[in-house]
Amino acid sequence: MKHVFIVGGTSGIGYSLAQLYLEKGFVVGICSRDISKISDSQKSNFQVFQTNVSNYIQLHETIESFISKEKKIDIFINCAGCYTEDVADSISYQQAEEMLQTNVLGTVNAFEVARKIMKNQQSGKIAVIASVSGILDYENSSLYTKTKRAVIQIAKAYHRALKPFGISVITIAPGYVDTQKLRNLNANDLSKKPFLVDEKTATNIIFNAIENDKKFVIFPSKMKWLMLSLSVLPSALLNVIMFKKAKWMKSK
Ligand SMILES: NC(=O)c1ccc[n+]([C@@H]2O[C@H](COP(=O)([O-])OP(=O)(O)OC[C@H]3O[C@@H](n4cnc5c(N)ncnc54)[C@H](OP(=O)(O)O)[C@@H]3O)[C@@H](O)[C@H]2O)c1
Repeated sequence: MKHVFIVGGTSGIGYSLAQLYLEKGFVVGICSRDISKISDSQKSNFQVFQTNVSNYIQLHETIESFISKEKKIDIFINCAGCYTEDVADSISYQQAEEMLQTNVLGTVNAFEVARKIMKNQQSGKIAVIASVSGILDYENSSLYTKTKRAVIQIAKAYHRALKPFGISVITIAPGYVDTQKLRNLNANDLSKKPFLVDEKTATNIIFNAIENDKKFVIFPSKMKWLMLSLSVLPSALLNVIMFKKAKWMKSK
C-alpha cells in the first residue's frame, strides 16, 4: 500500500487531492492549522493532524507520528498557502508575516522534514504547489506573487540536491482554480479570472504530474502559453501590461 501526506489537506486543492488519493487506494495523512473545517465522518478516512507548516518542530513531530504508524511516505505534498488579492503596500504587517511564514518558511520546512524521511527510505516524491503568478518578474506584483516565485526557486534548489538520493521534486504552478478560498476573496465572482479551472480538473493534473515525476508543470495550457509569451517581453512592456491587467481585474 502507498502512503501520501498532504500539508494543507483540509480544504480546496489539498482536500480534493486527499480525496483522489483515497480513491486510488493510498493511505492519506493530512494536516492544517484548523482541522475543525472537516467533519468527523470525513476525518475518519484520513490520518488528520493539527499542524502549522511554518512551525518546523510541529511539522517534524506530525510527520514522525505518521511515520511511526505507517513506516513510510511515498509522496509528500505541500499545498499550504496563504493568499490575498492585494499588492504589497495594501496588506497589513500581520498578513505579510503570515504569508511569508506559510509560503516561504513553510516550503523550506516541508522540504526539510520530507527529505529526512525520504533519505532514509532512499526514495520518494516531494511536490509543492507554487502558482503561475510566480513565473513572471514584474513591478507592482503582489507580495503573494513574490512568495510563490520564491517557492519555485526553493524547489529548484532541492530538486538538484535530492536527485542523488532517489527523491524527485515536482513543482506545480496552477493558474486560477475555482476553490472556496478564491471565491471568498472575490465576493463569489470569478468572472475576471482567465482560464479558470475547476478543482477536479486541477487535482487530476496535479496527480498525473506527480505520477509521471514532472519537474515543473504549469496549467492550464492556455495560461502556460500566455505566461511563456509574456516572459520574453522587455520588462518595461511587461510592467505596463501587468499594471493594466491588475487595474482591469480590480475594476467593477
Ligand atoms: N485557488 C487558486 O486559484 C490557486 C492558484 C494558484 C496556486 N494556488 C495555491 O494552491 C494552494 C491551495 O490553495 P486553495 O485555493 O486550495 O486554498 P485553501 O482552500 O485556503 O487551502 C489552503 C490549505 O492550506 C492550509 N494552510 C494554510 N496556511 C497553513 C499553515 N500555516 N500551516 C498549515 N496549513 C496551512 C489551509 O488550512 P488552515 O487555514 O486551517 O491552516 C488549507 O487546508 C495554495 O498554496 C495556493 O497558494 C491556488
